[in-house]
Amino acid sequence: MSVYSEKVMDHFRNPRNVGEIENPDGVGKVGNPVCGDIMELYIKVKDEKIVDAKFKTFGCGAAIATSSMLTEMVKGKTIEEALKITNKAVAEALDGLPPIKMHCSVLAEEALKSAIKDYYKKKEKVK
Ligand code: FES
Repeated sequence: MSVYSEKVMDHFRNPRNVGEIENPDGVGKVGNPVCGDIMELYIKVKDEKIVDAKFKTFGCGAAIATSSMLTEMVKGKTIEEALKITNKAVAEALDGLPPIKMHCSVLAEEALKSAIKDYYKKKEKVK
């Protein structure tokens, strides 16, 4: 039996929201120095709400599955709500991850936080 849930396999095989957003309102780029995997997350924000999210992940299957699930989870959420999404919540939404793969979901949480930080930075400049 696979150590991965059906949901993980599904998001790995058919990742949602792969790609880049043109003129994104926020970009988050993070990497894990141990495994070398890299995740890029793009968000489009309108009236403090994340209206679109896309990702490019160069990494393991769990990293791809968590990025995919994360983009699905943040769409339609306000920035404030999105900031409350933890790596655990993403892993739970995927019906769990094997313990040695939990760090892959941490990458997703960090990418989101970094994209939101970038969004705030950009907003400051516009003002
Ligand atoms: S093994 Fe590095 S993110 Fe999954």
